[in-house]
Amino acid sequence: MLTSPRLLQLLKIVVPFVVAVWLLGSIIPYRAAYDGLTRHFQDEKELFISDFLSHEIDGAFNGQSIAELCASKQWTPGLFLSCDPPAGGFGQVKNAHLNCVRFAIEMGAELIVPRIVKRLDVAKPTPWNGGGPIKGVSLEYFFDFLFLNRSLSQSCPQMKFHRSLDDLWDVPSLQQPHPISLATTHTDLVKGAIVNDTTLLADQIKTYIGKISPSEKRTLPIRFHLPVTNWAFPTSAENAHFTHQFGRILTIRKDILRLSAAVLYALSKRHRIGINPRGGLPAQHLKNTFVAIHLRTEQDAKYTLPPFDVQADDLVDYLATSKVKIAYLATGTTLEEVSLFTKMASEVNVTVVRKEDLLEGEELKALEALTWDQRAMVDYGVMLRAGRMAGPGGSSFAWEVALKRGRATGDDGVLVRNGTGEDVDLTWSDGRSTLFRVQGMGEILRETVWS
Ligand SMILES: *[C@@H]1O[C@H](CO)[C@@H](O)[C@H](O)[C@H]1NC(C)=O
Ligand SMILES: *[C@@H]1O[C@H](CO)[C@@H](O)[C@H](O)[C@H]1NC(C)=O
Ligand SMILES: *[C@@H]1O[C@H](CO)[C@@H](O)[C@H](O)[C@H]1NC(C)=O
Ligand SMILES: *[C@@H]1O[C@H](CO)[C@@H](O)[C@H](O)[C@H]1NC(C)=O
Repeated sequence: MLTSPRLLQLLKIVVPFVVAVWLLGSIIPYRAAYDGLTRHFQDEKELFISDFLSHEIDGAFNGQSIAELCASKQWTPGLFLSCDPPAGGFGQVKNAHLNCVRFAIEMGAELIVPRIVKRLDVAKPTPWNGGGPIKGVSLEYFFDFLFLNRSLSQSCPQMKFHRSLDDLWDVPSLQQPHPISLATTHTDLVKGAIVNDTTLLADQIKTYIGKISPSEKRTLPIRFHLPVTNWAFPTSAENAHFTHQFGRILTIRKDILRLSAAVLYALSKRHRIGINPRGGLPAQHLKNTFVAIHLRTEQDAKYTLPPFDVQADDLVDYLATSKVKIAYLATGTTLEEVSLFTKMASEVNVTVVRKEDLLEGEELKALEALTWDQRAMVDYGVMLRAGRMAGPGGSSFAWEVALKRGRATGDDGVLVRNGTGEDVDLTWSDGRSTLFRVQGMGEILRETVWS
């Protein structure tokens, strides 16, 4: 039998040994959970933001169908396309840029990446340039150039592209361009704007170019120049996969998207809304998180969209029936209209919040340092993740958001007609996104926004 001092001595050896074995045994399986553990201890907000930035609502970009289209075209060395820089908001600029790239694919040309004309403010849409052509600023004013370069060079390696005409200063024959347009190459424009048959376009462009510069006589590089071309390619006539992915080559600048993430984080915390930054859109039955509302009544929209009273009535009626308590108001309109709308919404028991109310400190300063058009893109990032969204059907921005959401979930949406004759009202909805008064311009936008 062991005496107690000997037992004690034995325990002194055995206990640390057992503890060491237990520790070793427990550390190894815990290793797997280590990542999860550090995730938990990282700053919650930073984690939300980084999850948001690395997960788009429609999953990872897939350039397969762009690659197929590019591979099917005839590419001509020494043939260049440049495009006029569009002046406008995010929706308009994005569509013009995508049409420029799309046209270059049909043409089989090298592309000079289009620029953007910066609007000073809504009241003065285009800066006065003294009469010459406006050069504009780099596309990085809105978009992520690195991503464009990566996605386009991987999916369409046949297309060479150049950041600027300045990079081609040593090719004198490129300095004076020849005009080219959809109207001069494709005569069947539906509603005066939309290409009727994209399968004819490549040959039509070739014929047109051949008349100006027969390829057998051409010895020097040649450049064609396309005016701003909006709402032109019929997205439903393209392969559905292509339509879904093509617009994704133009993604929003990361620093701007980061502010969208910060807005969403503040929204989820302050109003206790469950938002999963790694997920897509919530399922139909879980869509009552918050409504994103686009009120487009700024001065530059005065002649093309319904006035405040009409838009606000449509939106507040929608809020009244939506069973959602929080409305995120995406707008660049006056504070008077914002408070009027906020009051109207409160009458149906809906609380209105804006990015300006949700951001603070450095992030609010960063928002205020952005131009009016860039701030709208912060809204765009938030609206994509809303359970529901609603806006005016004549706004390309609203279509950009609605169609991207619909394509992410595979919902096409339907048009609902109210009234007859001149008084008809068309509302488009896919269950999660609703656009009012689509008739006219809205029908063209529905057919031509890539998203
Ligand atoms: C695109 O990226 C590649 C690789 O980083 C680079 O070599 C190329 O110059 C870039 N293209 C443009 C137009 O900047
Ligand atoms: C559009 O294309 C179709 C099929 O190619 C053709 O039948 C029709 O006439 C065209 N429409 C217009 C307006 O040119
Ligand atoms: C708003 O809430 C109040 C108080 O709960 C209620 O009396 C009123 O009926 C609600 N109004 C609407 C339009 O839902
Ligand atoms: C149709 O329009 C009428 C008149 O504007 C309106 O009262 C009614 O609520 C609308 N119906 C639907 C289903 O939107």
